[in-house]
This record gives sequence, C-alpha cells and structure tokens, in this order.
Amino acid sequence: MAARWASVLGLLLLLPLLPSASSSSMVFTLDGNVYPDGHFYVTVNIGEKEKEKPYFLDIDTGSNLSWLECDAGKGTCETCNKVPHPLYQLISKKLVPCAHQLCDAMHQDLGSTKKCMDSPRQCDYEIRYFDGASSLGVLVTDTFSFPMGHLVPSKRSDIAFGCGYDQVKKGDQKKVSVDGMLGLGRGSVDFVSQLKGQGLITKNLIHHCLSATGGGYLVLGEHELPPTQMTWVPMAPKISGKANHYSPGKATLQLDTKSVDTTPLQVVFDSGSTYTYLPPNLYKLLVSKMWPSLSKSLKLVKDDDPELRLCWKRPGGFKSSDDLKKEFKSVMSFKFGTGATMMIPPENYLVITESGNACLGMLWNEKLDMIVVGDITFQDQLVTYDNEKGMLGWFRTPCRKSSAIFSRI
Ligand SMILES: *[C@@H]1O[C@H](CO)[C@@H](O)[C@H](O)[C@H]1NC(C)=O
Repeated sequence: MAARWASVLGLLLLLPLLPSASSSSMVFTLDGNVYPDGHFYVTVNIGEKEKEKPYFLDIDTGSNLSWLECDAGKGTCETCNKVPHPLYQLISKKLVPCAHQLCDAMHQDLGSTKKCMDSPRQCDYEIRYFDGASSLGVLVTDTFSFPMGHLVPSKRSDIAFGCGYDQVKKGDQKKVSVDGMLGLGRGSVDFVSQLKGQGLITKNLIHHCLSATGGGYLVLGEHELPPTQMTWVPMAPKISGKANHYSPGKATLQLDTKSVDTTPLQVVFDSGSTYTYLPPNLYKLLVSKMWPSLSKSLKLVKDDDPELRLCWKRPGGFKSSDDLKKEFKSVMSFKFGTGATMMIPPENYLVITESGNACLGMLWNEKLDMIVVGDITFQDQLVTYDNEKGMLGWFRTPCRKSSAIFSRI
C-alpha cells in the first residue's frame, strides 16, 4: 500500500515538470497481441455524453476508413461477426448525407465513386482488404471521447466513421477480438486527418510501439523521439489512381546479411496485418534458404492454426523467445536502397502457438507483388509515420506499458 501511495505522489510531483501530452498529441494504450488475438487495438468511447459506450478498434495504418460492426436498425445486422461489445446502434440523424463533402472525401480515400440516386440520405461505402475481408455500410458521425490520461479531462470530438452492417471475414471464423477498425492510412478523412482538422493534434504523425508480450502504445501527433538512434527513410510519394500505402520504398529481404532474392521489392507498412506477407516467389526462396540453418532437433508439424502453414516442434515445446533464439539462429533484415536496414530477429518472424510450436510468421499471398510488413515484425520497435515531412522511422525498444512514456501521462 505504501509503495502505491508513494508512486502516486511521485506522479503528482513530477507532472508539472514534464512535457504535456495533451496539447499537441494523444496517447492511447494498446491491448492485444500477434497471437492468439491477431490484433493490437485501442479502446474508444463513442456516443453522446450519457450514452457513450466502449469499443475496441484495430489500429490499421494500411487503410483509410474507420468503421464499426453496426446494427443498422430494427435490431439487426445483416452479417456481423461476434464482436466483444454490443453492436453500435445506428440512428438516422447521425447519417452523413450523400451530397456531403465528407462523402466525397471518403470515396476519394477508398478509390470508389459515390452513387447518390438510390439513397440520397446516406453515404454508402464498401471497403475490401487484401486478405479477402470486407465491410459494407454507411458513413455516420458521432462523438468520440478520448482519455487523456490521469488528471486530464477527456477530449470529445465528432468523428466520421463507417457503420458496417455487412462484413465478410477471412476464413470462416465468426468471432473476432475487435469491434472494428481505426483507419490510419494516408487519406483525407482517415482518423488522424480528422483529429488534426479539428485542432485536437497539431501534426499528422503516427507512432506505434507494439509489445512482444502484448499491449503497447499509440501516439498521434508530436512525440519525443530518440534523435540519433532512429532510422529514417523517405516515404514513397503518392501515385494518383493507385491505392497508396505507407511505403519506405524498395528493399531486399536478407537472411544473415545475404539477399534472399536480388530484385528489390516495394515494402509497405501495415499495422492492420498480423503477419508479414511476401509474394509467393520470395517466400519459396526464403524457406529453401532457411532450411540448412535450422537446428537438427526441430521436427516439422502441422499446427491447429490453419493460417500458419510452416511450423516446427522441439522436445519440450517452445515457451519463450529465448527458446526461439536457441533453435533459430538466423537473423533476417530488410535492406533499403538508401542503405537503411530494419533488423528482423527470430521473435519478429516466428510465432509460438497454443500447442507450443514455432511457426513462420512470414506468410505468402498469391495476389501480392510487394512485401507487407505486419505486427509480428513491428514488435518492440517504435515505428513513426511522419506525414508532415514524408518520412518513416523505426527504432528498436521494448514497448511494454511500463515504458517511459506512461510515466508521463
Ligand atoms: C487513402 O487515401 C488517399 C487520399 O485520398 C489515397 O491516395 C490512397 O490511395 C488511399 N489508400 C488506400 C489504401 O486506399
């Protein structure tokens, strides 16, 4: 008890001396993990004051639209998944009309065209993800309340987002660990652009730190960065008429500093992707080159998780990242044209499943001609998307909640 009071007191005494997070940025705690959740998410409260309710939103730097699984009226949702909270209830006065400028901006961000003839009172959308998942719905605006940390009153603001009443999930699992998505892409009505447009943050910057032990944090706006240790790469410019993602340009995948394939490929940062995805060809080369370096005590197994197709067991099973390091000696990395590298140690390319197997968390997708870097590879790195300067940066650091940043909010 005494220790607890001491720490509260410490916090109170320290507070006035520390940089204030409330004026130029927003800090969110993250929950979730790579496995078994498959998502890192924030908790946001949505609704007018007395009616606000919490929702879990998957932080997704790979898409522009935020949306929630939603009851579009009459107590029904056409196809909703089993989400953690009761469905968001649509009320018609929250609908964004089709003629509204927000509807144009959203369609521009989705690369679609609006059709107002059939239902002028609403703004329909459809969003498709590269893994085959999709959401169909209408655009609404409602009040979000943002926790600003201890002793700071929460901020409230009207945000436009999708009410998704018809979802297709990849595979056939109907239960999901989030209520929707938080679109942090390079759009104009993405979440961060809306916050900046309303003056809630001053700069369009996103920083995520996903902990390998689950949780972590997300900062929107300005954030103190380690000045010299950060690796920076310019963001590939947007190309009109194409789906633009956050890209640090082209890179080769290296295995123990040797290129797996000599042709550099476009790399995309996508926090909405659980694993890292490679085009089939690169995947095949990677696996064939990994093979000789594997420890002889490993045996190939079929894991219960259908998504993870290359798994190994060891006597006694895998329990921690130390076990991974004992059996998998190879370090991978991305090498960019600028000379910058991102290191990928075993815990950033392997996942330990419920059955105690180690599975390759670099997967292939036949539709891909680029490399999609997902949560598994981002773990325990502070990753910054600087939309003001057009730069992407990363820095290896533990992302546990106890990290320095949380003593400041
Ligand atoms: C997000 O919106 C921007 C601006 O409208 C667009 O250029 C980009 O292609 C969109 N990104 C995706 C992944 O659709």
